[in-house]
Amino acid sequence: MSTPTTTADAAVPLHDAPDHETQAWWRDAVTYQVYIRSFADGSGDGIGDIAGLRSRLGYLADLGVDAIWINPWYPSPMADGGYDVADYRAIEPVFGTLAEADGLIADAHDLGLRVMLDIVPNHTSDRHEWFQAALAAGPGSPERARYHFRDGTGPNGDQPPNNWHSLFGGRAWTRVTDPDGRPGQWYLHLFAAEQPDLNWTNPQVRREFEAVLRFWFDRGVDGFRIDVAHALAKKADLPDLAQPLPADESNPEPDHPYWNRSAVHDIYRGWREVADSYDPPRAFVAEAWVRDPERLALYVRPDELHTTFNFPFLQAPWRAADMHAAIDSTMAALAAVGAPATWVLSNHDVARQVSRYARVQGEVPGFNLDDLAGLPADLEVGHRRARAAAMLMLALPGGAYLYQGEELGLPEVEDLPDEVLADPTWTRSHNTRRGRDGCRVPIPWSGKTAPFGFSSMGAEAAWLPQPATFGQHAVAVLDQQPDSILNLYRRALRIRRQHPALGDGELEWLDSPRDTLMFIRRPDFRCVVNFGADPIRLPLDGTIILASTDVPDETLPPDTCAWLVP
Ligand code: NOJ
Repeated sequence: MSTPTTTADAAVPLHDAPDHETQAWWRDAVTYQVYIRSFADGSGDGIGDIAGLRSRLGYLADLGVDAIWINPWYPSPMADGGYDVADYRAIEPVFGTLAEADGLIADAHDLGLRVMLDIVPNHTSDRHEWFQAALAAGPGSPERARYHFRDGTGPNGDQPPNNWHSLFGGRAWTRVTDPDGRPGQWYLHLFAAEQPDLNWTNPQVRREFEAVLRFWFDRGVDGFRIDVAHALAKKADLPDLAQPLPADESNPEPDHPYWNRSAVHDIYRGWREVADSYDPPRAFVAEAWVRDPERLALYVRPDELHTTFNFPFLQAPWRAADMHAAIDSTMAALAAVGAPATWVLSNHDVARQVSRYARVQGEVPGFNLDDLAGLPADLEVGHRRARAAAMLMLALPGGAYLYQGEELGLPEVEDLPDEVLADPTWTRSHNTRRGRDGCRVPIPWSGKTAPFGFSSMGAEAAWLPQPATFGQHAVAVLDQQPDSILNLYRRALRIRRQHPALGDGELEWLDSPRDTLMFIRRPDFRCVVNFGADPIRLPLDGTIILASTDVPDETLPPDTCAWLVP
């Protein structure tokens, strides 16, 4: 006898007034991240776009998510996948037009899906009109004061102003050439040289971004994900770092000259006022890599942002104690400020969870492909753990983000040919770090050969090559398999919508056997996860309404999550 991974729908009571239908929808929404370049191509050039996304909105509504977050879709030279924005009030022509964007927002709303955009306030593109004006205007000008320009050090000013590093490799400063052809000042870029950092002490910068928020809120956008939300404020005088090593975003020391400075909070209080001036109020989610939960919680105080991604959960090894600690510390810190948790297992910056969990856990030094490369991988184990992790995440109190393709069980593409790599990390590290392209490969929809239905207009290939194995992950294939990961996500999301215990609220841990976690959500919901290498006797009474693998004879296999009702 085994319990298949199906739902006993009758056992799930109806959810009366879920938060996702109220103004505080963000407290428990499940948001699907659309990496637009790689989601669906509607124009036939092998690059995903708005037309492609519009044609697949039905898929997302059917999956059962509440909202979508679209990675930057603004005009951009694409030095960093669109995180180098040349114009914040327009659409990149490769992706479509403003009229199509309006159409997408309307279509999504018709289907009950909210739309979050991505705002990039730490830096612009070097092609942005402000930066071009700064180059033309010269030292000491108001145009340069919107960025961080400094004279160089050393006898000829040919040394950078300080010892900061770019996150993508190399130094965080580039020297400009003046109009007369002579070497000029240096400008700061924490990321690529094509991404000059803005100076957030300049009132024009503040005014401009509040106006950009309004531009999109007026078009009906429901909220924004804020790119590197913890980097905007820099310490006056830009002092040298005590330890001039490539920076670790997650663990900034107090008083670090650019990570997580307290001055960022005032910026977000202003943004909250803008969001609250709309009916219904708009919402924010911060991308803030701040490991200390108490310091992270400061971003979501009642007059600041609504939510912030929980990266310690994403970074935790697949082990009971690590997961327990990540969940507990976050929930305690966020509860203290009245904010919900926002869980996430992957995004366009980290290796896909199937491939992370395929490695021996706890020995992986990080969560990027460059950390994993070379370590032995068992993708079957990774897949099993990814299924269980999704169920664990969706049972936790708060909201959650899914990254496109995780519902298809896609692994990281670890062997992209060197010549297709587009992540600036590759060139800036002198071809030593391959970067993040492996999780950005266009997703498979149907068919047996690449591009697997990615292009409805018949492009021959997608912009990054898809491996032949992507065929077995195609939506059309997984649709037909009752126990596929796609159908598991659909069932989990349906139960989550219907069950009154799920979404926002509290969690109560139960004592559980070694290598397992067990908790209750009231009323009438229980979740158990076996992280261990051995099967265990199911330690809870009740009826299983969903399990990530078969649960034969009351025995919970390794790497399995089960949901039960009394
Ligand atoms: C975080 C984004 O998620 C990442 O893709 C980007 O490279 C950096 N911020 C810089 O904007």
